[in-house]
Order: sequence, then C-alpha cells, then structure tokens
Amino acid sequence: MSGKTISFLNFVGIFGKSFCRINSTCFGTINSPNGIMNQELKSKIDFTNLPRHIAVIMDGNGRWAKSQGKPRVFGHKNGVKAVRDTTEAAAELGIEFLTLYAFSTENWSRPKMEVNALMSLLVETLHNEIQTLHKNNIKLRTIGAIENMPEKTYKALLDGVESTSHNTGMTLNLALNYSSRWEITKALQTISQKIQNGQLFPSDLSEELISSTLETRDLPDPELLIRTSGEYRVSNFMLWQLAYTELYFSPVFWPDFGKTDLCNAIIDYQKRERRFGKISEQIPS
Ligand code: FPP
Repeated sequence: MSGKTISFLNFVGIFGKSFCRINSTCFGTINSPNGIMNQELKSKIDFTNLPRHIAVIMDGNGRWAKSQGKPRVFGHKNGVKAVRDTTEAAAELGIEFLTLYAFSTENWSRPKMEVNALMSLLVETLHNEIQTLHKNNIKLRTIGAIENMPEKTYKALLDGVESTSHNTGMTLNLALNYSSRWEITKALQTISQKIQNGQLFPSDLSEELISSTLETRDLPDPELLIRTSGEYRVSNFMLWQLAYTELYFSPVFWPDFGKTDLCNAIIDYQKRERRFGKISEQIPS
C-alpha cells in the first residue's frame, strides 16, 4: 500500500470520526463492507481505460431514512459516509475528477428544516476535514452559485477551495446551488455581454466558447455519470457536459452506495463501446 493511500485512509478515519460527532447514532464505520475495497473486483478494472471524470447524482437519502422509520435528515447524515467511501475509492483507483451533486438550485424548495440541516452538515464536514484534505493533496472545488448560499456555508466552501487550491491529487468537485439550466443561462449572458461590448462577434460563438464559459470550464466532460436510487433522470445536472457521457443507474439508495458499487459502475463502463456517432468498425480496439 502506498504512502498516499495510507494518508488518505487517515483522512477517511478522521472523516468518519467527524461523521460520528454529527450523527449521534453513528451508523456505519470505515470497517463496514462498503468501506472496504473488494480486491477481486478491483482486479477486474482496466486501469488503462479509467474514466478521468466521474459525476454522481447522489439520490435516495430520504427514502433510505424512511425505510428505517427515521426522519429524512438521518438519510443525509448517513449519506456523508457514502461520500467518504466513494471519494476514497475514486482516489484509490486513480480517478482524476469526482463531481458530487450535493445540492441543486431546486433543493431550496424543500422543507426549511431539511435545508438548514443540509447546510449545517456541509459546514461541519468542511470545517472538520479541510486540513486533512489538504494534507492528502486533494483539491476541493465547487460548481454552482455558492455565493448565494448561507454565509457560513459560503465561507466554509471558500476557505476549503482556497486552502486546497495548490494541491495536485484528485479534484473533488461539489455541485452546490447548481443547476445546468442556470449554468447555461449564465454562460449565455456572459457571452452576450461580450458581444454587446464588441469583445466578441456572433460568429465567434462555438461549442468550445460555450464550454469554456461554463462552471466546468477547467474540467473534462464526465465519461461516466452514476445515479443512485433506481431513478432514471439527469435532474438538471450537467446537461451540456453529458452529451457523450455513459449513464449508469444503480438501484442502491445513496447511503448504501460504496466502493463495491463504484467498482461495478466502472467495470460496466469499460464494457461499453463509446462510438461518438461513428460506427463500430471505426473505433480502434
Ligand atoms: C438526494 O437524496 C440527496 C441530497 C439532495 C443531498 C445530498 C447530501 C449529502 C449526501 C450529504 C452532504 C454532502 C456532502 C458533500 C458532505 P434525496 O433527499 O432526494 O432522497 P429521496 O429521493 O429518497 O427523497
């Protein structure tokens, strides 16, 4: 096991302890089955054909909690464990970018108590873990209108992004107060303004220009999108960037998602033929 892996496990351990502070019932530990990389499954992964960027729609926290007769917030708290396991597994496998859809523009219309609980969970997690992320060379970044989030959340995010900005390991990208239509609208406003100012001509408009004006301008498009909880939707998430992304739908509720599930998603992705509009015979084997 490499030094990097060991130090990342330290991060996971501390992350786990923080989680237990947040959640008095402390469901799950890093020793749970989902917290352990299945080595047999790992050996089935082709490391020469990894997706560079995996995006995840973390869904099913509420239903997971309801299935146990608990309030929805219990599901979100347990969702942090799945964030930890998935982040750890992605880093261990060598994924470069992991984007997690943590709070959508539409999520503000949830009950106030649930929104407040999510904001607090986010702040507490960031405060507890940011130094450890830094020590483990993980770069944190966000997409979405984080400046319109509660001040404490905004500040915690800014601190996290700033303090890890020179790290060179995996990028953990949190989509917060994000929606794809908002992002595309904002990009078009920026471009229109430049055209009006004479900085750009309408003929300059191109796919590359739009991509480079989106929140994800410095990220490759995801090769793989995972959505949990058996729902088959993209829910206003990265609509532009998903043009040629392979979609993987898992029936598992997010709090139960773990390293094995991530490995299975990658193995499934690697069985697909990505043709990008071409025919099979044109694809190098
Ligand atoms: C979707 O499940 C989940 C969310 C809207 C929030 C995700 C948040 C977390 C996993 C915890 C905090 C995250 C980080 C990055 C520390 P849902 O509530 O829509 O579930 P349902 O469809 O069953 O109701």
